[in-house]
Amino acid sequence: MNDTILEIQGLKKHFPVTSGVLVSRPVGWVRAVDDIGFSIRKGETFALVGESGCGKTTTAKVILLLERPTDGSVKFHGKNIYNLKGKNLRQYRASTQVVLQDPSSSLNPKMRVGSIVAEPLLVNNGASMSSKAVKQRVDEVLLQVGLQPEAARRFPHEFSGGQKQRIALARALSLSPDLIVLDEPVSALDVSIRAQAMNLFKDLQAELGVAYLLIAHDLATVRYMAHEVGVMYLGRLAERSLSEELFTNPLHPYTKALIAATLPSHPDLISGEEVLSGEVPSPLNPPPGCRFHGRCSHVMPVCREVDPLLKEQAKGHFVACHLFE
Ligand SMILES: Nc1ncnc2c1ncn2[C@@H]1O[C@H](COP(=O)(O)OP(=O)(O)OP(=O)(O)O)[C@@H](O)[C@H]1O
Ligand code: SF4
Ligand SMILES: [Mg+2]
Repeated sequence: MNDTILEIQGLKKHFPVTSGVLVSRPVGWVRAVDDIGFSIRKGETFALVGESGCGKTTTAKVILLLERPTDGSVKFHGKNIYNLKGKNLRQYRASTQVVLQDPSSSLNPKMRVGSIVAEPLLVNNGASMSSKAVKQRVDEVLLQVGLQPEAARRFPHEFSGGQKQRIALARALSLSPDLIVLDEPVSALDVSIRAQAMNLFKDLQAELGVAYLLIAHDLATVRYMAHEVGVMYLGRLAERSLSEELFTNPLHPYTKALIAATLPSHPDLISGEEVLSGEVPSPLNPPPGCRFHGRCSHVMPVCREVDPLLKEQAKGHFVACHLFE
């Protein structure tokens, strides 16, 4: 059975950098996403992890039809999402929803919770859904995220940060999507309620079979939630693997350094050999050869000249590094 929901291949998103006040001319390109590929499967979580600016949100925006790709494809049930029209396009929009980092800014403060959660239903179904059916569905998803139907009458400011994130999740669930993009879904929440929020995401996944594209800096969140992980560095995937394999047998020096920096108690990395030093170079002028070479403690002459390809080292475990060629 092929349970792939989305297949991303050779995806690039480059932004023009312009100069000039009256006549703007492109003087270069920010290579925010620069040839990446992965699949998202039904009921599973694929996580994109990496430092700030490596292209995680840009990837999500292409998937959400908010940015047109420069090259490559995103296929939904085998069809490129940028070629979808009419009913198929509506179906794709309904089946792909998003929950953003900060629920305080993603929920309209002037709308009641009931209207916020109902909005996708009304936009997608137009006048074809009766107000009774809309109310019923709103009540149902509020209960699913652990809120009482009475919440529908209140405004976002009457809720805590964790409850606001539940409202955002209820809105995302209202159309029974196949996929929800979770962009840093717990990093704006109090540390004390993060575990609760992650458990809610996981429980709903088990119950509803929804897939998540999880975007996170924090490897602890990724380790807890993801089935498969893509480690991004400067618009590229440095490593991609099933989550358990990645955390027990990380191969790429960048992955090891990220794990050492954010999961210091990780038993496989007690030597502290991999240290993440220096800044991420600009995606405007990525360094030649391996993009990580300026920060890598294993750098070899070939790394400064030849860009390593992402190659499969073990079943489903891919790494882009000359140490493994
Ligand atoms: N509309 C745009 N125009 C020009 N450059 C952009 C645009 N959007 C993003 N970028 C650049 O693309 C790169 C990737 O940005 P992106 O937001 O995808 O990173 P990210 O991995 O989500 O980072 P963070 O963890 O900080 O959210 C950055 O250098 C960013 O400045
Ligand atoms: S290719 Fe070279 S510089 Fe890049 S991560 Fe591997 S060893 Fe380090
Ligand atoms: Mg981002």
